[in-house]
This record gives sequence, structure tokens and C-alpha cells, in this order.
Amino acid sequence: MRVALLGAGNMGTSLLRGWMRRGGIEVSVWDPLPRRREEAGRLGAKVAPSNPEAVQGADVVVLAVKPGKVGEVLDEVGSSLPDGGMLLSVAAGVPTAFLEGRLGRRYPVVRAMPNSPALVGVGISAVCPGRWASDEHLERAEALLGAVGEVVRTEEKLMDAVTGLSGSGPAYVYTFLEALVDGGVLVGLPRDLALKLALGTVLGAAKMAKETGEDLSSLRGKVTSPGGTTIAGLYALEKMRFRAAVMGAVEAATKRSEELRDELYSDS
Ligand SMILES: NC(=O)c1ccc[n+]([C@@H]2O[C@H](COP(=O)([O-])OP(=O)(O)OC[C@H]3O[C@@H](n4cnc5c(N)ncnc54)[C@H](OP(=O)(O)O)[C@@H]3O)[C@@H](O)[C@H]2O)c1
Repeated sequence: MRVALLGAGNMGTSLLRGWMRRGGIEVSVWDPLPRRREEAGRLGAKVAPSNPEAVQGADVVVLAVKPGKVGEVLDEVGSSLPDGGMLLSVAAGVPTAFLEGRLGRRYPVVRAMPNSPALVGVGISAVCPGRWASDEHLERAEALLGAVGEVVRTEEKLMDAVTGLSGSGPAYVYTFLEALVDGGVLVGLPRDLALKLALGTVLGAAKMAKETGEDLSSLRGKVTSPGGTTIAGLYALEKMRFRAAVMGAVEAATKRSEELRDELYSDS
């Protein structure tokens, strides 16, 4: 597959690393920063002299610039986008209608919402098709995003909710981890040991839930013996309304994503 990568920042470079690990993907890249272009070249991409030249002959043009730059880049490359190709945008919050409208023609567009663990190859991305994208276009997008983690399909109307959960979610988990570490320190553990225990616990519990596919409340029940330590801890969490706090975080981030979209793209 031939890919044009427009924007070699954090997300663009994470994707590039994943594609190079996987192999079989030829990448042509452009970014205004020489340092980023050089880094992309070192990773194995061909550095193009400009965005319009990067997109020539590409099966997929991956738009990995900041949301505020998307319009400008589409104006620059719109007329050079190859027939038979498609656009894959990872720009958070930018609707497919905006991308399609800016291109001004029937061009297949897939929108994705990745998250930051893509940097280490364990992200999760949601993808949704624009008006002119087929199953085959979604498959191309999934193949590319699959190089940096899992991919799920969804409808565009759920993309704000995806942002509120998996997009912003890593930050909630870091906050939870910090609190676990501080809790450990509070009860006398050295900080480095508390960090190791907290990271291992969160990774292990997530892996266990994923691999067994068991209902979360049943997994919790299995480690909660009558009158034991875990139920005492869980009771403390319930009294502090822990679950309501986490649900509220997802709800607030989703609402904020909707507000930002309405402010920026109310016409699309
Ligand atoms: N990082 C994440 O975890 C994450 C998660 C989900 C979605 N995303 C989305 O991914 C996109 C990129 O985010 P990021 O975190 O990777 O940002 P970033 O590190 O700032 O990368 C964006 C890159 O695009 C370059 N750029 C600016 N104008 C350009 C142009 N005209 N043509 C080509 N490249 C251009 C920027 O260069 P300058 O710095 O010189 O402007 C920068 O190197 C955003 O739309 C974001 O919403 C990121």
C-alpha cells in the first residue's frame, strides 16, 4: 500500500513507526519542520518536497495535522488527490462533512479517533466512514490504524462519545494511577514500589478482563471475599461516589467535544 502522511508530529510519527514495523507499506511524508521530516526519513519514509507531491499515487492520504490546519492542508492538496485513493483523517473532532465539503468533490473519506497509547503500539482507534467511503475504504483505514493498536468501527454520531471515553480516557487512567501510588505511599510503601505495583495492577486487571471476556462485576465478585480487605476498599470508593465521578468525566468530555465541534464546524 502507498501512503502519503501529511504531518509528522506525535500521531503521524507513531503511525509511521507502526507501518514500518509491519512492513509492506511505502510512505511518502511532508511536514513543515525539517527536524520532523528528517526523523520520518530516518524511520524509512520518503520525504516529499511538498504536500501536493507527497500525495501523488497514494492509495491512502493520512491527514495528521492539528484540527485547525486541516482546511488549509486540504485546500493545498485537494486537486492533487489521486483517483482510486482515499483520505484518512485522524484530526480530533473534524467531521467528515467538513472534510468532504472542503474537497468539493465525491472523494472517499474515513475519519478516525485514535488515542495516545498508539505511541507505543497499543492504542485503540474508532473509525467511521464519510458519505463516499465503502467497506473497502474502511478496511484500508483499519489496516493502517491496526499497526498501532486495535480498531473498532462506529457511526459518526458516536465520535464525540468515543472522544470522551477512549480519546480522553488515558488521562483518567493516569489520574487513577497517581492516586493509587499516593495511596500506597500513604500506607507506607516506598513510591517506586507503589508505582510498580499500581502499573502492574492496572495492566493485569485490564488484560484479565480482556482475555477472559468475563463480566466485570463477576471478576470483581471473585476477588471480594465476605468481610475481607477488598470489600472494605470498595465500600470506601462507593462512599466517595467513585463510579459517578468516572461516569461524569466521560460525560463532561463528550459534552466538551460536542461544544468544540459546534463552535468550529456549525456549518458542516
Ligand atoms: N497525539 C494524540 O494522542 C492524538 C490522539 C487523537 C487524535 N490526534 C490527532 O492527530 C492530529 C495530530 O496530532 P499530534 O498530536 O500529532 O500533533 P503535532 O505533534 O502537533 O503534529 C502535527 C504536525 O503537523 C505539522 N503540520 C502543520 N502544518 C502542516 C502542513 N501544512 N502540512 C503538513 N504538516 C503540517 C505540524 O508542524 P508544526 O508543528 O510546524 O505546525 C506537526 O509536525 C491532530 O489532528 C490530533 O487531533 C492526536
